[in-house]
Amino acid sequence: MTDKATLTIGDKSYDLPILKGSTGPDVVDVRKFYGDSDHFTFDPGFTSTASCESKITYIDGDAGILLHRGYPIGQLAEESSFLEVCHLLLNGELPTADEFTLFERNITYHTMLHAQFDTFFQGFRRDAHPMAVMTGAVGALSAFYSDSLNVDDPKQREISAHRLIAKMPTIAARAFQYSQGRPFVTPRNELSYSENFLRMCFSVPAEDWVPNPVLTRAMDRIFILHADHEQNASTSTVRLAGSSGAHPFACIAAGIACLWGPSHGGANQEALEMLEEIGTVENIPAYVQGVKDRKYKLMGFGHRVYKNFDPRAKVMQNTCYEVLEQLGINDPLLQVAMELEKVALSDQYFIDRKLYPNIDFYSGITLRAMGFPKEMFTVLFALARTVGWISQWKEMFEDPSRKIGRPRQLYTGATQRDYLAVEKRG
Ligand code: CMC
Repeated sequence: MTDKATLTIGDKSYDLPILKGSTGPDVVDVRKFYGDSDHFTFDPGFTSTASCESKITYIDGDAGILLHRGYPIGQLAEESSFLEVCHLLLNGELPTADEFTLFERNITYHTMLHAQFDTFFQGFRRDAHPMAVMTGAVGALSAFYSDSLNVDDPKQREISAHRLIAKMPTIAARAFQYSQGRPFVTPRNELSYSENFLRMCFSVPAEDWVPNPVLTRAMDRIFILHADHEQNASTSTVRLAGSSGAHPFACIAAGIACLWGPSHGGANQEALEMLEEIGTVENIPAYVQGVKDRKYKLMGFGHRVYKNFDPRAKVMQNTCYEVLEQLGINDPLLQVAMELEKVALSDQYFIDRKLYPNIDFYSGITLRAMGFPKEMFTVLFALARTVGWISQWKEMFEDPSRKIGRPRQLYTGATQRDYLAVEKRG
């Protein structure tokens, strides 16, 4: 086994060390390559570039495997709780009973928002997209919690992490209630993370709110499925923002902004809108033909890393069945989704490109059945992904070899030329 790669340019050869991970592809270390050779490597979209070393999440896209700190996502979704997964991602291990009690206390201690947030929220239009509200509100946290902004203090870093995990459900539920014209519901710390969130979203002063254990479990599972996903676009955004020494509230706001895009977290809303547009099973062939004619993409399908079933999509599909059955909903869009999946998986266009359903394909139908409008889907993704973002931020920050992120480029613009006064320009 060789532990170096050799790259030859003209008559010069460069030895590049090969670094080994605990599993997955080895990497060719090009850190000294520019200094030695005066060449950059070129990889727009980072399709072949490992941007960092990490111990948090591992994906084997060909085999459809997703592990958090070594634990398969299916096991975590079936057997664990979201708050346990938060501890796992943030601290590296599943908590002991005592550690869990302490962690749960630390999170619930921070669920409330500063009273001044009331005024802040009033500034948003009622018809604002809740992701616009989330981006603004999370960015504004630093204006309210300036006592945990010193990133060089480990205790303040920890408090900011706990604050973000704790306050995201409160902000998300508030954005939802605000858009519905309903009053804000204060968190209840004796409830579980997911039950508290559902209560803050759906309870109204006029009647008692009755928890539904199946829906609470489904919510918790959906949060687990979205908790982290390696170096995706929003996580890389958080890391890049954090590499300058920016505090976590600013970095997570940047991650939320990135997540909103339709190729990333915005796809869950778009997937449901697509199913609504298709409407009935009879319209599927024409819609699929439109995809093959490249008029639009099949939303909720395809993934940069998974060239096999997204392991989260399988759990999501089962959760979807459970929720619909529990609520006694016969959603015609589920029929459309199942038939569309069948047609796409047997079509050569999708087979050739290894396009499979991703997590977003079934999440919209599930969340709609639970009572969330589609504008909230990406908000729920952001809520759940916050723990992944903050864990990755923490890992990056604590890495002694941390450097500010500063990619280079292949410049193809004009070479140096002289300024001409306007009357002399042709
Ligand atoms: N529908 C139709 N064709 C597709 C799709 C799709 N959903 N996804 C990829 N392709 C085609 C693409 O046109 C290309 O074809 P060709 O080689 O003939 O030009 C080929 O498959 C490879 O696609 P790509 O654009 O190079 O793949 P990518 O890795 O850059 O994109 C993706 C990954 C997720 C952005 C893309 O699959 C996509 O836009 N999917 C729909 C949006 C979506 O569901 N996103 C959610 C991802 S999972 C949640 C998350 O992590 O955010």
